[in-house]
Amino acid sequence: MYRGRRLRMTPALRSLVKETRLDVHDLIFPIFVVEGTGIKKEIASLPGMYHYSVDRLNDIVEEMEKLHVMNCLLFGIPAHKDACGSEAYREDGVIQQAIRKIKKLCPEMVVIADVCMCEYTDHGHCGILDAAGNVQNDETLLYLQKIACSYAKAGVDMVAPSDMMDGHVEALRFALDEAGYENLPIMGYSAKYASGYYGPFREAAHSAPGFGDRRSYQMDYANGKEAMREIRADIEEGADIIMVKPAMAYLDVIKEASQCFAKPLAAYQVSGEYAMLKMAVDQGIMQNDIIMESITAIKRAGADMVITYFALDIARRLKEER
Ligand code: PBG
Ligand code: ZN
Repeated sequence: MYRGRRLRMTPALRSLVKETRLDVHDLIFPIFVVEGTGIKKEIASLPGMYHYSVDRLNDIVEEMEKLHVMNCLLFGIPAHKDACGSEAYREDGVIQQAIRKIKKLCPEMVVIADVCMCEYTDHGHCGILDAAGNVQNDETLLYLQKIACSYAKAGVDMVAPSDMMDGHVEALRFALDEAGYENLPIMGYSAKYASGYYGPFREAAHSAPGFGDRRSYQMDYANGKEAMREIRADIEEGADIIMVKPAMAYLDVIKEASQCFAKPLAAYQVSGEYAMLKMAVDQGIMQNDIIMESITAIKRAGADMVITYFALDIARRLKEER
């Protein structure tokens, strides 16, 4: 008889044969930065997450440092939006200020900036529109280049294009190299699905499309092979880190990507995944341990790092366990 229970009999044995361990160093924490001063305001759609103005960022940066969560992913919410998202590449834009502030508060922090236009355009799409309202791929690339170079100039450690335009990594790599940032890594949102799980984020970032949807640029959730084509393209264009997003409903994609490609692989446990779990725990419908279970499953599937709104909760839990 196969006696699988032998190795489950004591906590020590279970720990010995544990295949996947979480590590604070693998976690990336998203931060939402708004314009203004003195703002630390809880986000209604993401309970436990906050909008910070630049002058209040020290609150969260200190907390992260204390818990050894040393990677953050920045999202900006500008006060003014226009057709070409000009606040995204303004030298004194909200993200540029946030980058300078965080690097000053904590030089060791790995500051990653999301590069996209949807938070900055008045129409809420991730690119430049033509007269008919279609997102113009190649024209958008020119803007993404400006945005990434502007973040680089502000001192960012990595850029993460989430726009899903074709050729985006190649365009950013070219522009960054031209500007002398050949050592700045790019984390491509390589396989990013058109997903309902982004709902709470769009609420938080005021970035929902004003008309239509993102299905002409983000991937159909029915497709798995297409994800491999998208990831391969990002790698060929020079991505240093690849990503699958969302995570929990796409563990098959994470697993295949980890087996097919020898690149650091990130998975993004997105806002809707956070909101579901958080609300179930807060209402006592499920136990807190589902948070650890969810992130462990994402890593078990093959992710090397996880972007998650639970990063600080997990770090706290890992600290207690020690
Ligand atoms: C911007 C962007 C989105 C997310 C990350 N970058 C939203 C979208 O594509 O509509 C989603 C993150 C989340 O849901 O937590 N393009
Ligand atoms: Zn976008």
